[in-house]
Amino acid sequence: MEQQQVIIDNNISSKGRQVAADELGCLVADLQIKSVSGGYSRNRRSLVGFGDRWIFVKEVDRDLLPSDGAEELGWLNKDCECVNHLIASAPELVPEWEKLVADGHVLLMQSFQESDGWQWQFPSNSDEQRQYIQAVVDATKKFESVKFEQDLIDKLKLHPYFRDKLALDNGLKLIIENAEISNQLIEKYAAMAQDDSLIGLRDAIHKMQDLLTDEKALSELSSKASELINQPNDCFGHCDVRSDNIAYNSSTGQVKFVDWNWASYISSGFGATEFLVDMARRGVDVSPWVGDLNIELLAAVVGFYTKRCLQDPLAPGNTLRDVQAQSAAVALGLYYMAINR
Ligand SMILES: Nc1ncnc2c1ncn2[C@@H]1O[C@H](COP(=O)(O)OP(=O)(O)OP(=O)(O)O)[C@@H](O)[C@H]1O
Ligand SMILES: [Mg+2]
Repeated sequence: MEQQQVIIDNNISSKGRQVAADELGCLVADLQIKSVSGGYSRNRRSLVGFGDRWIFVKEVDRDLLPSDGAEELGWLNKDCECVNHLIASAPELVPEWEKLVADGHVLLMQSFQESDGWQWQFPSNSDEQRQYIQAVVDATKKFESVKFEQDLIDKLKLHPYFRDKLALDNGLKLIIENAEISNQLIEKYAAMAQDDSLIGLRDAIHKMQDLLTDEKALSELSSKASELINQPNDCFGHCDVRSDNIAYNSSTGQVKFVDWNWASYISSGFGATEFLVDMARRGVDVSPWVGDLNIELLAAVVGFYTKRCLQDPLAPGNTLRDVQAQSAAVALGLYYMAINR
C-alpha cells in the first residue's frame, strides 16, 4: 500500500514573522513569504521579503518538537557563532551576515535564492559540475586551517569526535567475525546488484560483493581503517558537506555553506572525502579529485556504513539504510581508486 505523505506546514510562525518584519523595517502585513523545500529538522523556515530585500528565517518552535527544544536552540546558536567566526577568515564561503534574535529562537541570514542565481543542488552540466566540485573541495581545505580559541571550542562543542567514532567503530571486524552479519550483507548487496535503479553504482556494488567473500581483502581493509586513529584531529570541518547545505552560483562559481551544527575538529581530508563519497553515490565521476581523498577514512567508512545499513529503517519509507549501503560500496570503490593511483 502506498505510504500517505503527511504534509506539514513548516513556514515561520507569527513570532518569526514579527522579527523578520523588524529586520526588514516593515509591517508584518507587508511581508512576502515563500516556503522553502528540503530540510530534515522540525524547525520552521521561510524566505521573507519586503520590497527588493529578502532574508532567510529559521525558527525553533517548541510546539513542533517532542522535547523542550534545547537541542535545536543549541544548533541555531552554534550555527550563528560559527558563521560569525568564519566571516572573519573565510567570508566568501559563508553568508555575509547571520544573527540570532527572539531570545535565540530565530536565526536570520542572507538569502540565497534561485532568482538571484543560487541553486541548492549539484549542477547537471558537466563543466559546471567540475567547477562546483572543485569549489567545494577547495572550501573544505580552507576551513581546515581556521583556528578557534579554546573557550569557543568548548562553548560550541567543536571537540574532535568523528575520527574516533569512525576509527573505533570496528564494522569490518564484525563482518570478518560474524557469519550471520556477513551473510546478511552478501544477500543485501546481491539484491542491490540486480536493482536497475542502481546501475550507475553497479561496479562499486560488485567490488563490495567480492570483498564480502574475501577474508584477506577484508582484513587488509580493516587494518587500514584502524590506522585512522593515528591521524591528528587538528583541522576544522563543517562535517555535513552535502549539496543540501551548499548554495552554488554557477555564474560566479561561488559556494556558500550553511548548517554548521555538526562542525568540529577532524582529520585532514574529512570534508573533501565525505563530499566526494556523496557525489560518487549520485553517479558523478570524482576521479579528478582522487588525490583529495583520505584513504584511511574511506576504509573506515566502508565498515561504518555496512554495519549500519542492516539496522531497521528509522521510519517506514525512510531511505537512510539504502543510502548507507550505497555509500559503503561507493567508499570502497573510491578506496581502491585511491590506493591504486
Ligand atoms: N540562506 C538561505 N537562503 C535560501 N535558502 C536556504 C538558505 N538556507 C537554507 N536554505 C534552503 O533550506 C533548505 C533546508 O536547509 P535548512 O538548513 O534550513 O534545513 P536542515 O538541513 O533541516 O537544517 P536544520 O536541521 O538546521 O533545520 C536548504 O537545502 C535550502 O534549500
Ligand atoms: Mg541543511
